[in-house]
Amino acid sequence: MINPVSTNISQNKSDLSQIFEPISLELSVLDKKLIENLSSSNAVLNNITRYIIESGGKRLRPAVTFLIAKALNKGFLPQDHFQVGIALEMIHTATLIHDDVIDEAETRRGNRTLHKIWNDKVAIAAGDYLLAKALARLASINNNLVIDLFARIMGEICEGEIEQDAQYYNFINLDQYIEKSARKTAKLFVAGAESSAILTSGADNLTIKAAREYAFNFGIAFQIVDDILNFTSNAEEFGKPVGIDLLNGILTAPVIFALEEYEEKQDFVLKNLIQNKFKTESDFNLALDLVLNSGGIEKSKQLAINYAEIAKNSLSYFDDNPYKSSLLNLVSFILERKF
Ligand code: IPE
Ligand code: MG
Repeated sequence: MINPVSTNISQNKSDLSQIFEPISLELSVLDKKLIENLSSSNAVLNNITRYIIESGGKRLRPAVTFLIAKALNKGFLPQDHFQVGIALEMIHTATLIHDDVIDEAETRRGNRTLHKIWNDKVAIAAGDYLLAKALARLASINNNLVIDLFARIMGEICEGEIEQDAQYYNFINLDQYIEKSARKTAKLFVAGAESSAILTSGADNLTIKAAREYAFNFGIAFQIVDDILNFTSNAEEFGKPVGIDLLNGILTAPVIFALEEYEEKQDFVLKNLIQNKFKTESDFNLALDLVLNSGGIEKSKQLAINYAEIAKNSLSYFDDNPYKSSLLNLVSFILERKF
């Protein structure tokens, strides 16, 4: 008998390759160039970068960058735009490595995290190495606006991590959550998309704004779905343990909505469990059940849909072409994604 779970995820993966079809050649060159650009005379570093690049990843950030570039350049991907995609994936990968050290995470993309295989010191240095290599790619583009955009956004990611450190088990509100998601996720999509428009000769301010708004709202929707999957997926599909954010005291949309629902009914069980930082495993399992049965997941899904709609509408300023169609389909994909 066919396992319904794996059918689901392989369907999901083939949907994504279909959406990426107009940039499939560029994405395969991207993987080759990533390995090539990251090669080092240090054997350990080579093993590490190979491990992390070959561990998969959806390549969503370069994909958005490339699709916008081709949508605005009559189906052509200029070299500078390609360099932005490489830099972006390097930066994304570096943030994942550092984030896993900070969160003491055991698994990523279904594999053991880099710092668990090697160690924290090596993982931090490897993340920095990726950032250095990204800087070299960005420098090759020779455009100060792009460098400035990336520099600002990378600073914000760090500020976000530091803020998170002060927020464990804190009852943040929805605005704070969106703000955090912007820093943590959406702005990196913006860096690629906006650079893609900036580097397109003749692109006017409205085109740049459309690219920025698409990427920002796409990124927020993507993060909300990520936070939903943290509750509803299983470790095998999602590559991370179920409920790990809540267990670590990171409160996301499903929990924020759940707390609101229970507060209206004057029910403070979930709030107390969080406040007491889950003293036992059964405390945590009860909290998980309370979130799942609160309507918080459905409300989060609706919130993601709202951002997704804004992302799609932002593209109305773009001419119709297969790349724009993929950008629109990608928005629908992230709402249904399983991995
Ligand atoms: C994971 O991003 C980290 C978040 C910002 C939520 P992705 O889900 O895009 O990670 P990979 O690259 O596909 O593994
Ligand atoms: Mg984290």
